[in-house]
Amino acid sequence: MAFDIDMIKKVYANFGSRVDAARKIVGRPLTLSEKILYAHLWDGDPKKAFSRGTDYVDFAPDRVAMQDATAQMALLQFMQAGRPKVAVPSTVHCDHLITAKEGAAIDLPHAKTESKEVFDFLSSVSNKYGIGFWNPGAGIIHQVVLENYAFPGGMMIGTDSHTVNAGGLGMVAIGVGGADACDVMAGLPWELKFPKLIGVKLTGKLNGWTAAKDVILKVAGILTVKGGTGAIVEYFGDGATSMSCTGKGTICNMGAEIGATTSTFGYDESMERYLRATDRNEVADEANKIKAYLTGDSEVYANPENYFDQVIEINLDELEPYLNGPFTPDLATPVSQMKVEAEKNGWPLKVEWGLIGSCTNSSYEDLSRAASIANQAIAKGLTTKADFGINPGSEQVRYTANRDGFLKTFEDLNATIFTNACGPCIGMWDRVGAEKAEKNTIVHSFNRNFAKRADGNPNTFAFVASPEMVAAIAISGNLAFNPLTDTLTNDKGEQVKLDPPTGDELPKKGFAVEDAGFQAPAEDGSKVEVLVSPTSHRLQLLDPFTPWEGTDLKGLKLLIKAKGKCTTDHISMAGPWLKFRGHLDNISNNMLIGAVNYFNDKTDTVRNELTGEYGPVPATQRAYKAAGLGSIVIGDENYGEGSSREHAAMEPRHLGVRAVLVKSFARIHETNLKKQGMLGLTFANKEDYDKILEGDTVDILGLTEFAPNKPLTLVLHHLDGTTEQFDVNHSYNDQQIEWFKAGGALNIIRAEAAA
Ligand code: F3S
Repeated sequence: MAFDIDMIKKVYANFGSRVDAARKIVGRPLTLSEKILYAHLWDGDPKKAFSRGTDYVDFAPDRVAMQDATAQMALLQFMQAGRPKVAVPSTVHCDHLITAKEGAAIDLPHAKTESKEVFDFLSSVSNKYGIGFWNPGAGIIHQVVLENYAFPGGMMIGTDSHTVNAGGLGMVAIGVGGADACDVMAGLPWELKFPKLIGVKLTGKLNGWTAAKDVILKVAGILTVKGGTGAIVEYFGDGATSMSCTGKGTICNMGAEIGATTSTFGYDESMERYLRATDRNEVADEANKIKAYLTGDSEVYANPENYFDQVIEINLDELEPYLNGPFTPDLATPVSQMKVEAEKNGWPLKVEWGLIGSCTNSSYEDLSRAASIANQAIAKGLTTKADFGINPGSEQVRYTANRDGFLKTFEDLNATIFTNACGPCIGMWDRVGAEKAEKNTIVHSFNRNFAKRADGNPNTFAFVASPEMVAAIAISGNLAFNPLTDTLTNDKGEQVKLDPPTGDELPKKGFAVEDAGFQAPAEDGSKVEVLVSPTSHRLQLLDPFTPWEGTDLKGLKLLIKAKGKCTTDHISMAGPWLKFRGHLDNISNNMLIGAVNYFNDKTDTVRNELTGEYGPVPATQRAYKAAGLGSIVIGDENYGEGSSREHAAMEPRHLGVRAVLVKSFARIHETNLKKQGMLGLTFANKEDYDKILEGDTVDILGLTEFAPNKPLTLVLHHLDGTTEQFDVNHSYNDQQIEWFKAGGALNIIRAEAAA
């Protein structure tokens, strides 16, 4: 599982000279984000200054990380790329396909049996192509990456939107679709629009009940789920350096919830401590040699408004704990105002479950602080009113937390210790009674709380908080409980108050683990066979998509005009569908089933224009495909927000949707559409969304002269025989237009490998 010190040395060898060159070319001091970006240009030394938010730039990431749900499609694509081995260090982590129900001792063996075919596939592909493989139960991808692979100043991509977690260790780490991962593993450059920069200055120090989580919960409230789009969020200031490395990871992790490209922190002593505690003295020693380059220039942090596109300042001394939700992670309510807000909005006050874990908050420090609350509860004669579930972040964290007594403390409060895996965070939670769809409240330390996300119940009101706050609220069983001011009644009828949490940033006795769950790849994988049964329901080898026919697209059926929020969960639901992530045809049966039809406010009920009957979205689209007709999907703002799963782009592509036209896109999803050879378009005039009527057929004109920055034309043919025409925009550059023409980026890569 060894981190690749030679690769890190190579990155650091050029880092200083490249940053110096960039500073000269740009003509001013640099932020950390810019330093990392300019040090990772595909073409080597910086030769020109890039325009933020405008220029597409080719980068050379140092690593790739993949989780089991997205790795299947990423690796199925890589197998088509015609390469013998991955070109950069890469890892696969089995964490998504493990249902939480009875606890790790029962759930993990069950998952290993249930998803054996997929785990075996991932293990053998990894073995063959030189990829490190982390077994089911080894931990959640981002915790394992932070513990083993992340390094200051590095650039990583990962097939999961919370790859950004590694910013806690000073990386620029970005969530991408499997197609992007496939490119980088195939030794190709990775393209990104040079991001804008948001600076967050942290002053003061976390204290009392306030945790790192509250910083990002507050930032989410300020910036909203779209506020970080196209930007890197860079944290700095005394408040930043006073925080633990894993706390920084928590903040960066939830940068995904504000749509940020990624978030990062400058290298500091907390990172050095973490590197040394996780057995990476060599990395810390190397980082120390170029320390000054691994943080923003001092002038930048002294006068941030001159260097960032936007600056936010937060005083940690004054920060209150927050509860964000329900149904969206940016609805931020300070704990002191929750009673008023919950009563005003009709949020159920009784809390049914408190869940601690996920890649956001499952570090040793997180568990230690939550355990300190649980300990107090026991000592003060309290029991928990809500059910309690814990998902440790990795086997190393679990083993160490167990050794240090935290897990026993949780169990003494009747907690269920789930597997070191995503579990309820990704909807892999077999929650008793969820099918009754009763209105109820849960609190968790995860990052996302979209409707149905954790348990599939649309009436579960999920609130996001720090692990210690989750512990306190679960114990009280009351969403409005404010541990800073309120008391609880103990078993003797006395009023008792919980003291603020205490904990250890790192284990005093050091981390320990017996079997971390890592499998190194074969030295020579050429003889390793990868088996995919043609009758499998879980895995399906890919067939190349067909190239563009060379003409304008005419007579497209309107499949759905989606109304309001349409995240990747709405487009390609997780939970029960995770098991089909390696089988494109089967998973396509979930396409857009969560999207709300503008014309009837229902999900998964659209009019089939061939029959006039209403039916499910996937079946309707299959009918169009069978009739040889293309179709178009219309969407609202920030379409495709959420995860990096390219299934949300591949499913419509596979089923014959030709274009997706929206008011605005979430970045990763837009790129995913382009990679798969789809047309991703935006309304030039957002009000034109209102012109789309049920029953319309649609022409897209201008494709024979498809060029960057040149709008296309959309023609609507309404049922009453009238037509309307308007411009639609796109953000395709020359290369992306080639992807469209070839029928997808992979068709080009394969052709190049064969040439
Ligand atoms: Fe897993 Fe939830 Fe993180 S699904 S990777 S724990 S966001």
